[in-house]
Amino acid sequence: MGINLKKDNIICPYFVVGGSNRKEKIRSFPGQHRFSIDLLIKDIRQLKALGVNKILLFGVPGKKDELGSQAHKKDNIVSLAVRRIKEGFPHLTVMTDVCLCAYISHGHCGIIREPGTWDRESDNFIDNKKTLVALSKIAVAHAEAGADYVSPSAMAKGQVAAIRRALDENGYRKTKIMGYSAKFASNFYGPFRNAADSAPKFGDRKGYQLDYSDPGSALAEIKEDIDEGADIVMVKPALAYLDIIKSAKLKFDKPIAAYNVSGEYALVKYGAKQGLWDEGEMVKEIIVSIKRAGADYIITYHAKEIAKW
Ligand code: PBG
Repeated sequence: MGINLKKDNIICPYFVVGGSNRKEKIRSFPGQHRFSIDLLIKDIRQLKALGVNKILLFGVPGKKDELGSQAHKKDNIVSLAVRRIKEGFPHLTVMTDVCLCAYISHGHCGIIREPGTWDRESDNFIDNKKTLVALSKIAVAHAEAGADYVSPSAMAKGQVAAIRRALDENGYRKTKIMGYSAKFASNFYGPFRNAADSAPKFGDRKGYQLDYSDPGSALAEIKEDIDEGADIVMVKPALAYLDIIKSAKLKFDKPIAAYNVSGEYALVKYGAKQGLWDEGEMVKEIIVSIKRAGADYIITYHAKEIAKW
């Protein structure tokens, strides 16, 4: 095979919840779970034994509010998990998702403007300034806990620059940033939104996520993130966006991550259940194609299966 796919290229996403002894199934997301920290550690041990050395953590809080305050309080669920993970696995690369959608009652990725200054029909309801302050706080809290990479996924303008500055000012110069740079307003996020309970309660994310018929703006967003200091730039989803991965690879000299998202994963699973295809063979073809397009890292819920090849 001419494609040099290594276990080092694979990043495994995890959902973490409070409490203990919890390993909850997720609706429409076969084979994936929400773990409490104790059982998360057990699962990571298996993942590591298979040779996968990078994870991306998503927190699922018990409570939500209008400001997403559970995301950046000192003992937020992600920081608690990172501390425990780093105690057990100091050499595991721990990346944390930095967003508000799972923590905020309306499910959008940012803080909403003052009532009366926007209407629900328009796209433009995010208060970018307030959102940047909140995202920076989250990133600093994760860095303090020992995250190797923080990964802003809110698609707020200037999020990478704001987080880089906040990290540096707080003494976390070594903490790196993986930007969700070209994140499309996609139909492929359904199972994830069940996992994080983060579906928007009104409107959609088209005001801040990218239009899939506009490849130019995707490349411009990637360039902006690089200029703002991103160490890895991401294209998301992966499979319907191989052209974007390829263009970014040819154009920029930065590692590129591709997020093989929940809907792409679920299609494979449901098709296999129907006997339409062999799951393992299907996963191979998909992952190799993402690598072939130029991804240096692939974030995928198939991580364990891939490592077993
Ligand atoms: C938003 C976010 C999304 C995913 C991860 N973080 C998308 C969204 O809900 O708009 C999706 C990941 C997946 O589908 O696997 N912060």
